[in-house]
Amino acid sequence: MNEQISTIKLEYLGKIKAATSLAELDQIYLALFGKAGIITLLPKEFPKMEKAQLASIVPAFNQLKIDLNSAVESKRSEVREMSYASLSQESVDLSTPITLPLRTGYHHPLMVFEEEIKELFKKIGFQQFGAPNIDTDYYNFEVLNIPAEHPARDLWDTLYIDKSGLKERNENWILRTHTSNAQVRIMKQYKTPVRMMVIDRCFRYENLDARHEHTFDQFELVFVDKGLSMAHLQWLSEYFLKHFLGEETKVRLRPKYYPFVEPGVGIDGTCLFCKGKGCKICGGIGWLELGGAGMIHPSVLKNGGIDPKEYSGIAWGPGLERILMLKLGVEDLRVFRNGDIKFIQEKGVPAS
Ligand code: DAH
Repeated sequence: MNEQISTIKLEYLGKIKAATSLAELDQIYLALFGKAGIITLLPKEFPKMEKAQLASIVPAFNQLKIDLNSAVESKRSEVREMSYASLSQESVDLSTPITLPLRTGYHHPLMVFEEEIKELFKKIGFQQFGAPNIDTDYYNFEVLNIPAEHPARDLWDTLYIDKSGLKERNENWILRTHTSNAQVRIMKQYKTPVRMMVIDRCFRYENLDARHEHTFDQFELVFVDKGLSMAHLQWLSEYFLKHFLGEETKVRLRPKYYPFVEPGVGIDGTCLFCKGKGCKICGGIGWLELGGAGMIHPSVLKNGGIDPKEYSGIAWGPGLERILMLKLGVEDLRVFRNGDIKFIQEKGVPAS
């Protein structure tokens, strides 16, 4: 056993001396002191030995333990010192240009569509206007000819704001259901004639499905001037829809009720999928409704401080996602807001 102890000492002190890294030293340490390490297993032999033998072996074994342990420790500090020293010799030039592969983002398809609309209408003299997303029911309904308790309010599933935490409790606060809340604000703020557009977010208390979302965007147009008629509305609708859906698109105005216009219409475009022949998507009629519009009701003009005998107005407010769904061939409206990066990469435009 004494011989064995000397051999171990010789062999391992040599290995420790030759080690050049902390990882190597860890391995040596494990081979000695680990669960199945030589030093751990050696004392298992002791019970088989005689007392006289043990009297010399045990002190030699203890010394072996101490020597190997301290050899590993001192070699560890030596290796550490060496690596600090070599690090301090190195230098980094922070001004070196690096070429990282850049990840380009994408403009959201809805954003791209909205920017194009703004450009298109800017060309014919329309300016952009912003109205609050959180508004009073006065601007969202009352000034638009929709008094409280009137059944027409049921046309909009409204999200009301809990007033209990508000200082200003004499107003009813809501999330605007449409961008039409801008109409009277625009009329009050600007002198006639007026050419304004609002492209922004609206909110409704909807049952969500492929064609309904609680949050969506609308494109409101407010055009007030002398002598405007439905012919102007037809022209503007064609200007808008032909640009985005193709020159061959036909546009028709179909009577429809909205309390703030008279007459009110649904703007229909020929179905993109069957080119007007009739298919599943358009329900066999060859047309798709793309928005609501009309001649601004005289009492709404009056609410905006405009004399309806002198001026007439055109307003519209199509939902943008519905039109974009057709343009992009998307079947579920919810993809516009669910943050699906694949969709944005596929349908958006790379940001250069
Ligand atoms: N605000 C209406 C809605 O959200 C759409 C609309 C219809 C807007 C007719 C108009 C309009 O400006 O004249 O359902």
